Amino acid sequence: MAVRQAENRWLTSSPEDTRALAARLALGLTAGAVLVLRGDLGAGKSEFARGLARGLDIKGPVPSPTFTILNVYDEGRLPLYHFDWYRVEDAEELEELGVSDYLPGDGVTLVEWAERAEEYLPARRLEVTLIPRGDTEREIALKPLGGFTLRMDGTEEGQC
Ligand SMILES: Nc1ncnc2c1ncn2[C@@H]1O[C@H](COP(=O)(O)OP(=O)(O)OP(=O)(O)O)[C@@H](O)[C@H]1O
Ligand SMILES: [Mg+2]
Repeated sequence: MAVRQAENRWLTSSPEDTRALAARLALGLTAGAVLVLRGDLGAGKSEFARGLARGLDIKGPVPSPTFTILNVYDEGRLPLYHFDWYRVEDAEELEELGVSDYLPGDGVTLVEWAERAEEYLPARRLEVTLIPRGDTEREIALKPLGGFTLRMDGTEEGQC
């Protein structure tokens, strides 16, 4: 179970916890939401993305888009656009994908490794930062920017 440490800061103790927190967050998202997932290799960004997909009722596997740059899921409550810019070397690659159509898009957009092309991010977004605090502990900080409305619907006080 994720434990709330501060208003928008949580501690998870397993990958399942991280997925459950992300799934709860997904319930409160609306079309046009852009989420940026930050954290080092292995921090848990892709686990968070999997939980978020589950929370949007996307049933199948959610592989990392490391080589494809973008994976699109249409079968959930909202479309999910999952980007991983780790392998992006120059902005033209993103232009070819029509990246501005998704930032924001008509569903939920997730970006891993946004550091590669920070200038494409809209001002209104949710920054999600994952920091390892042990082998299986992760601190997860949620920071709404530019008027992003953060709702953690259905969350019991202090737990998720
Ligand atoms: N509390 C936790 N939350 C998330 N992942 C955890 C947690 N505890 C352990 N893990 C493990 O950490 C790893 C996280 O991997 P993941 O692919 O999600 O990282 P990532 O941030 O996407 O890395 P990359 O930048 O390489 O894609 C997984 O092996 C997962 O099992
Ligand atoms: Mg990843």
